[in-house]
Amino acid sequence: MNSIKKIGILTSGGDCAGLNAVILSVVNAATRFGWEVYGIHDGTDGLTNRPLSYEILTESGFSNSPWPRLSGSYLGSLNTGVKESPEVLAQRFGEGVKELGLDAVLVVGGDGSMSIVSNYCKMAGVKMIGIPKTIDNDTPLTEFSVGFNSACQACTNALDDLMLTARSHHRALILEVMGRDAGHLAMHAAVAGFADICLVPEIPYTLSGIIKKLDEVKKSGRTHALIVVSEGVKTETGEAVTGAVNMVGEKINGGIGEYLSKLINNNYKGFQTRVTKLGHVQRSGNPTTFDRSLAVVLGSEAVRLLAEGHTDRMVALSKGKVTSFGLDEVVAAGTTGLSENSPYVIAARNIGMYVGEK
Ligand code: F6P
Repeated sequence: MNSIKKIGILTSGGDCAGLNAVILSVVNAATRFGWEVYGIHDGTDGLTNRPLSYEILTESGFSNSPWPRLSGSYLGSLNTGVKESPEVLAQRFGEGVKELGLDAVLVVGGDGSMSIVSNYCKMAGVKMIGIPKTIDNDTPLTEFSVGFNSACQACTNALDDLMLTARSHHRALILEVMGRDAGHLAMHAAVAGFADICLVPEIPYTLSGIIKKLDEVKKSGRTHALIVVSEGVKTETGEAVTGAVNMVGEKINGGIGEYLSKLINNNYKGFQTRVTKLGHVQRSGNPTTFDRSLAVVLGSEAVRLLAEGHTDRMVALSKGKVTSFGLDEVVAAGTTGLSENSPYVIAARNIGMYVGEK
């Protein structure tokens, strides 16, 4: 017999499309069990800051609003790194959970949040179920995280738009996309957007390889080319292009597009290049059908797990099935990068895309 009566839900890390669909799914599924749902504001801040910041979410209230259909996080999210010691934050987190009388907390987050928040929960003795989300798709042990598909759509749309202007001006246009240190987003978008070149952090590339491909395009009679580069890509010799850091000293990716553009322009006269750095629109476009339905599947599964007495697990999509993994296993697995054996990398190579050296 499980003793759950009241749960909290929070979104943690960079936002993405589909978070509010997860919230709807959790609220509606929990309502079926007669549980109360507390929406925690601004990630863990809502529980670690004083006064506590939260609101009660009801099926009649939340699903009656446009929010479940929109991107962003209705609850707000926290992506600024940790400012105090984990022990202090875990203690305040635990006290916050106790003050609200929560029996468990559902955490919608990526690899970083699974690790940080599960650590708080462990230290404070709080039950947690994780629900994976991130446009980077690097959360381990799940094939897809909520938000990835919508971000891919934003990138593919950008490539479709760029192709038209590239053609008008006979240019090679570079699209720099997000993804942190994983190339999933870049590779999926490049394949769907029929790019000529796709550079990802996991596969080394050479300038000569890029130029060879551009020249091949030129000689084929095509007057334009599209290049996708993931923000985590380094220079040919492996140096970061920027030393930028955020307010808490974590590195900020970005700038590789401009770097490559100059490099190509200085070394190849076949095409002029220009750069589009797509930025945060990758996180804020409309959630796709895939992300909305994945959100509903994973959110309701998280509630079902709790109802059946499970805790300390992350729900996941694995081999086409909905399943879950222990949080310890998820944290130990770290971050999942793009494999050279991914069907998308293989397909890209099969259709002649330059994706770096074999
Ligand atoms: O992890 C999601 C993500 O959008 C990454 O792709 C990107 O590197 C990072 O967050 C950007 O974070 P911020 O919004 O803090 O600049």
